[in-house]
Amino acid sequence: MSKLTLTELAELKHQGRRIVMVTAYDYPSGRLAEAAGVDVVLVGDSAAMTVLGHETTVPATMDEMVMLTRAVARGARRPLVVADMPFGSFQVSDEDAVRNGVRLVKETGADAVKVEGAGPTVSRVLGLVGAGIPVMGHVGLTPQSATLLGGFRAQGRTAAQAKRLLEDALTLEQAGCFSVVLEAVPAAVAARVTEALTVPTIGIGSGVDCDGQVLVWHDLLGLYEGKTARFVKRYAELAPTIQDAIERFAADVRAGSFPAEEHTYSIPDEELAAFEAAVSDSRAGSRRER
Ligand code: KIV
Repeated sequence: MSKLTLTELAELKHQGRRIVMVTAYDYPSGRLAEAAGVDVVLVGDSAAMTVLGHETTVPATMDEMVMLTRAVARGARRPLVVADMPFGSFQVSDEDAVRNGVRLVKETGADAVKVEGAGPTVSRVLGLVGAGIPVMGHVGLTPQSATLLGGFRAQGRTAAQAKRLLEDALTLEQAGCFSVVLEAVPAAVAARVTEALTVPTIGIGSGVDCDGQVLVWHDLLGLYEGKTARFVKRYAELAPTIQDAIERFAADVRAGSFPAEEHTYSIPDEELAAFEAAVSDSRAGSRRER
């Protein structure tokens, strides 16, 4: 199966077919996302929280994102793989953004990168796109600057903020973004942004009228035990299932009922007898030497 192209992704919007995106952080999740027919896999810096145990996304490093993206890209061949640019990798300068964007694409097999915000991010997008790297934008609640935004809360809830958000999304599109994530934006505002943009919007907590939807892997599957946002829908509760399996393994080990015969390799009787003889000969030899 061939890789989904940016042209095919854009066509989905124009055909009114909704785009499916999930985050993933390793090879098996990349494979499962592909097998489930997902269009875009985002190696989000949410990895800092979901797989690395940090309180926020801010501590994610380039080295961590490179390692995780490599694994996902090996598993997700058909979906477009987008690597999140972590905090600090593009905020300082256009040069940093291009250097780190090149590294993410060159060293991992990612097809594109994602950057948060507008304002100074717009010139980073111009630099990245100029270097030949496809860029996904991200406006609304941008977790890397959550403190500045007053916490993890919906954005664009006043007329002025909503207008600014629309302008930011349009500016990102003009700078060359092939898609824009809208996070925690009122549904009516996200619908208006989606209508105004020619590139697809991907919503998370932004209502049903976005061109596509994304959920974080651990939220979708019930693997994340921390507090989840109002917009999360869990499609499975895997954490208790996994814990139960591990508890049953532990009980079997402690009771001596695992491994059973079917989990065990055998040795032919004559080989075992020869082995026992060789071992007892060498034991006898070492006793004589003493
Ligand atoms: O890091 C992430 O997982 C994200 C998605 C929530 C869009 O940015």
